[in-house]
Amino acid sequence: MTDRPDRMDAGTLGDLSAAVHAGKTMDSTRALRTPLVMANSFELPEDPSDISWSATAPGLYTRNSGVNQVALEEKLAALEDGEEAVTLASGVAALHAVFFTHVRRGDHVLVSDVTYEATWRLWSELLPARYGLAATFVDMSNLDAVRAALRPETRLLCVEPIANPTTKVADIAALAALAHEADALLMVDSTFTPPPFYRPLSDGADLVVHSLTKYINGHGDAMGGAVIGRSELIGPIKADAMVDVGGVISPFNAWQIVRGSVTLPLRLRQHLTSAHAVAAALEGDPRVAYLFYPGLPSHPQHELAATQFAGRGFGAMMALAVDGDPDTQNRFVANLRLITSGFSLGHDDSLIVHTGTDGPRVATYPEPFRRLGHLRLSVGLEDTDDLIADLRAALDATFS
Ligand SMILES: Cc1ncc(COP(=O)(O)O)c(C=O)c1O
Repeated sequence: MTDRPDRMDAGTLGDLSAAVHAGKTMDSTRALRTPLVMANSFELPEDPSDISWSATAPGLYTRNSGVNQVALEEKLAALEDGEEAVTLASGVAALHAVFFTHVRRGDHVLVSDVTYEATWRLWSELLPARYGLAATFVDMSNLDAVRAALRPETRLLCVEPIANPTTKVADIAALAALAHEADALLMVDSTFTPPPFYRPLSDGADLVVHSLTKYINGHGDAMGGAVIGRSELIGPIKADAMVDVGGVISPFNAWQIVRGSVTLPLRLRQHLTSAHAVAAALEGDPRVAYLFYPGLPSHPQHELAATQFAGRGFGAMMALAVDGDPDTQNRFVANLRLITSGFSLGHDDSLIVHTGTDGPRVATYPEPFRRLGHLRLSVGLEDTDDLIADLRAALDATFS
């Protein structure tokens, strides 16, 4: 059997080609798909005494890395245009891995005032109470407020380009400049804005986090998380948070997510165009009390979103409430037939979740979220007309 010429460098490929080919390896079986290797340990060389227990290479022990993990990491680094990626058991494990590795005693962190629930809980309760780390929550869409909140000991800024769940948009290039002036790192949780829709590293972010559970896997059947950035920042996450804390991704999940990610650019096209059409169809309906979608001119940061995402779209997530109390929101959700009430997002099926008006997290949301409650809608891959028909029929049933 003759060897094939070297594979093309993933960096030279277009988005569709990179999603198909980046990270693919061929072993002695010549299988066209990277084989799934479920072994958790590997035969060591005759003298293993030189091998470090914290080494981060495949072929030792699966908590130190594995074939399927590396295939996924190489693909993610190519898709985000980053030097290196680390993958972990979930998006939350990835967020925690950044905080655990890159924030030390005495450091201060700036966190967006609207942020994913676990990031909020880690920085409002767990890390300050258990380890004495200091965090300030700040409106990241207000650059003066960010500048004022920076301290000499600020080490990290944490933000989402489109915030979960309010859809507030942050100016990543401006925040990166502020972070770097202060000698701090900018970490961007880009779960709502996967590549090729948006690449925060190209706007100056230092670390990009993904819940792979969402768009990158895309099919609602695996959990995973990733951090992508310069090797000098990712290497310590592998050694400290992956090998020594152990939130490693299962080889099966890595294999599954590689498979799901092949169609990411294609799926995103449909997610992005369909969400825009759904938002436009709902806006202006008198039974919809509010609707925030960055693609609508009524969104407070529409102009910023148009510039930052450079015409590629505005995401596929929206925040809305129907006209009524929390019970009315529940009735509306119960009247949906195609869209399912469920906690995740970025799947092939459209998902909606109602956050009530109680609890410490909701108290940090802006009006009108606090008063009316809030529905987070993730627009999936069904026909746009079917989704709009489902939403309109549920409105009719709720308000008849
Ligand atoms: C923005 C964002 N970041 C991180 C996560 C956490 O991901 P996982 O559920 O994979 O731990 C989520 C989950 O909803 C999310 O929406």
